[in-house]
Amino acid sequence: MPDLDPVRHNRDAWDRLVERGDQWTVPVSSEVIARARAGDWSVVLIGHEPQPRHWFPESLVGVDILALASGGGQQAPVLAAAGARVTVFDNSPRQLARDREVAERDGLDLATVLGDMRDLSAFADGSFDLVFHPVSNLFCPDLEPVWRECFRVLRPGGSLLAGFLNPDLYVFDRDSEDNRGELVVRHALPYSDLTHLSDEERVRLNGPHGALEYSHTMTDQIGGQMAAGFHLVGFVEAPHHSGVTRQYMPGYFATRAVKPRA
Ligand SMILES: C[S@@+](CC[C@H](N)C(=O)[O-])C[C@H]1O[C@@H](n2cnc3c(N)ncnc32)[C@H](O)[C@@H]1O
Repeated sequence: MPDLDPVRHNRDAWDRLVERGDQWTVPVSSEVIARARAGDWSVVLIGHEPQPRHWFPESLVGVDILALASGGGQQAPVLAAAGARVTVFDNSPRQLARDREVAERDGLDLATVLGDMRDLSAFADGSFDLVFHPVSNLFCPDLEPVWRECFRVLRPGGSLLAGFLNPDLYVFDRDSEDNRGELVVRHALPYSDLTHLSDEERVRLNGPHGALEYSHTMTDQIGGQMAAGFHLVGFVEAPHHSGVTRQYMPGYFATRAVKPRA
């Protein structure tokens, strides 16, 4: 499928996932927002468990946060209710609409911006204190521009919290794993839906409108952040939220990286 535009394709894919009520598109309740307003808040960066609070500033009041590729009305409204000034940036109009739904429902101030995570030119240098980037770069073909842009839009001393999939998950044949619960090593890494599957197999496994995925490498993920200028100060892992691999290996990693003061 040589003329496929991966950003446009995944925009359509995520808009459709919103229609289908996928778990990463279901907004938080008013009760969660009320608790966050009262100071009792948590957000998920990887898997289903709340990210430890010490990765965030002690108080979020007045903190400028970019919720990067983080649509769906989940984390951004909670951070806003806790006092942060939040901008959600996402490639799916319908995912952003979910954030606006929560903001309107619960009277929160929240900005939404549509775009590709590799191009944050909508924001001036040094616009944010924190970039919150949950597991979403598996949908992005290349990471170097993402880390470079995150570094640029952060203020000195600001931090990037990034979640991502364990790239090793992609060595396994998906059909055997999903349909027979077997882990069969098949793909050389780094994996891409566009290069490792035929069009026919990709459409059979993902459906014609399924989101395109890329495994990346640990060098892309961690080396890439360091190459952009970040200092890595935190690293955690978690099992995948579903599937056979969770018995054997981490499914997710998360990094906390700081843009050094000059
Ligand atoms: C698994 S969801 C993550 C959001 C969710 N709130 C969470 O808890 O992790 C992945 C998100 O990445 C977004 N996305 C995919 N490709 C993107 C791109 N190139 N630029 C910006 N956002 C993108 C999707 O639209 C989707 O909202």
